[in-house]
Amino acid sequence: MGNGWFETVAEAQRRARRRLPRSVYGALVAGSERGITVRQNTDAFSQIAFAPHVAGHHAERDLSTTVMGIPVSFPVLISPTGVQAVHPDGEVAVARAAAARGTIMGLSSFASKPVEEVAEANPDTLFQVYWTGSREDMVRRMDRARAAGAKGLIATLDWSFSNGRDWGSPWIPERIDLKTAVRLAPQVLPRPAWLLDFLRTGAVPDLTTPNLEPPGGKAPTFFGAYGEWMGTPPPSWEDVAWLREQWGGPFMLKGITRIDDARRAVDVGATAISVSNHGGNNLDSTPATIRVLPGIAEAVGDHVEVLLDGGVRRGSDVAKALSLGARAVMIGRAYLWGLAANGQGGVENVLDILRGGLDSAVLGLGKSSVHELNADDLYAPDGFFLRLGDDKGLGDDERGAEAATGTTSAIGARR
Ligand SMILES: Cc1cc2nc3c(=O)[nH]c(=O)nc-3n(C[C@H](O)[C@H](O)[C@H](O)COP(=O)(O)O)c2cc1C
Repeated sequence: MGNGWFETVAEAQRRARRRLPRSVYGALVAGSERGITVRQNTDAFSQIAFAPHVAGHHAERDLSTTVMGIPVSFPVLISPTGVQAVHPDGEVAVARAAAARGTIMGLSSFASKPVEEVAEANPDTLFQVYWTGSREDMVRRMDRARAAGAKGLIATLDWSFSNGRDWGSPWIPERIDLKTAVRLAPQVLPRPAWLLDFLRTGAVPDLTTPNLEPPGGKAPTFFGAYGEWMGTPPPSWEDVAWLREQWGGPFMLKGITRIDDARRAVDVGATAISVSNHGGNNLDSTPATIRVLPGIAEAVGDHVEVLLDGGVRRGSDVAKALSLGARAVMIGRAYLWGLAANGQGGVENVLDILRGGLDSAVLGLGKSSVHELNADDLYAPDGFFLRLGDDKGLGDDERGAEAATGTTSAIGARR
């Protein structure tokens, strides 16, 4: 295929690995500590089985829905990633691809492109913030995003500054100058296609965070921004309520894995939550998000839109998450591999793969719409689903009785 088209997300990842300098690729793989969570996020989807039908299928299938009041052509959103130097067009290319495929762009405040350019490329942009800097800084950044046209805010609160990876962290320079260029040369020169992309734009990756720029000052470097964040006292639930109030519009709380936290998110008036463990980049040993989704959806799904992110690599993963109570999913690495492999076209390619796989599952399960997907058509091993932080959960006796009922059971009957 001369036009760079690829068949699966796995192939996009192989191409990303070949094309990117080692440290840039390493930054995308990410993960923390032993890599348990990052691995389990993807592996967990393999443990859930479909029970498809052979007749009675629907010729027309509707994959569209809305997320936080925004119509999307199918329920897969771009999750915010603060990744620099993957492609010269960076988040603008991702935003264009999402717009071309009728879905929402999540923009990280640690991203390499200004929110104004990204919202222009995709009017359905959600701006993501961390709890970092002073309250004035936060208000100023939110005001800027709102003025740029961002339609919603994502507050990501799960980060706990866990660092260190058994396989080693890539070296990422503070900024790229002659000295760092020489140090990076051995890994960049064998990747001429990546280098050429940047040379064509006449710019080296500048590794700054333009959305955190102070008034009249320069955009902080990625590490400068990280330093500010580490030095900011972590938020209380009252602070989260304050943030929600300052934003005013549609508000997503990202990083929830516990039922009690999901309930607090409802209390502060969140429009949506994302069941997320930061793609396994944060506290290692947090369970795969798909394992905690049904309990959370059951507890708060009537009060808040429940999304999931973590480990989604194919359309069938999307179908499983929707069947277990998610309104939509967000993807991280999948589109980053696509961006690295083939720019905007690569991200569109990834979205097409996920759409196609989701449609196949909706067809096979005999549904005419994503809204009809439900847990009755899924099977998972006993004990697979976890209810973290649930004071109203099953008692020990009931749990024991359930565990004794066999190896695999239909999920719907048990929820
Ligand atoms: C390299 C990388 C950078 C990320 N940066 C951010 C970020 O800046 N803000 C944020 O909310 N989440 C960030 N995330 C987490 C993603 O939004 C998302 O939760 C995660 O990637 C989902 O898992 P997946 O990559 O398996 O799809 C990042 C993830 C990766 C892999």
